[in-house]
Amino acid sequence: MKRLRNLLNRIPFLAERSRRRKINRWRAAYEQWKRQGGALPLPSYGKQLVLQEYAERFGTRILVETGTYTGHTVMGLLDKFDRIYSIELDPTLYRKAQQLFARYRHVQIVEGASELCLPRILSELNEPCLFWLDAHYSRGATAKGETETPIMRELEAILSHPCSRQHVLLIDDARCFTGENDYPRVATVREILLKAHPDWQLEEKEDILRAHRAAVQD
Ligand SMILES: C[S@@+](CC[C@H](N)C(=O)[O-])C[C@H]1O[C@@H](n2cnc3c(N)ncnc32)[C@H](O)[C@@H]1O
Repeated sequence: MKRLRNLLNRIPFLAERSRRRKINRWRAAYEQWKRQGGALPLPSYGKQLVLQEYAERFGTRILVETGTYTGHTVMGLLDKFDRIYSIELDPTLYRKAQQLFARYRHVQIVEGASELCLPRILSELNEPCLFWLDAHYSRGATAKGETETPIMRELEAILSHPCSRQHVLLIDDARCFTGENDYPRVATVREILLKAHPDWQLEEKEDILRAHRAAVQD
């Protein structure tokens, strides 16, 4: 059954129809979550709306995601970006995502630790990008690298990129940034970001730390 589904998904029209159906299911679940009071965490579709909002606001055409997991974010935003990079450390999750997105030439699923892969990806980029920093150990099938979260080294790589001031950073799971389990405190992350870019605006909302310059229309 699964093999048949994989085969059918190689037919562009059927793959797109299945993608639309998935997105409709996520949207319905999100609407229901809102009706029930919208307690955090945001469902995947809500996070996709946040990413889309920032991409539109800052005109970013490239998405860089760390931590692919099942590829929901990539799937939901496939047609919203010119290029998408997504990095996954777990070999099985990587392989599945790689197969899932193989026919999309503008999507690159990268296997490895984001803190090690980001510098190579960044060296290919010469325009402002939207970063969805979401790589971390989350139990279950997820991978654990040298540390539970690679965020400090991810930030180091991004902040030393020539376009860094124009990049837009969305860091998920802000609630975990307590100074425990390898996570820095939110205050430390804020300090690092503002030291690099004193004019950046930082906001923590819906469990996502958002960091960027003032948008043109702000
Ligand atoms: C919360 S999930 C990502 C969810 C996904 N971004 C989404 O929006 O649906 C975190 C993922 O990060 C992966 N991960 C953990 N440490 C990593 C690292 N150092 N580099 C890349 N991926 C990592 C885990 O295997 C897991 O799949």
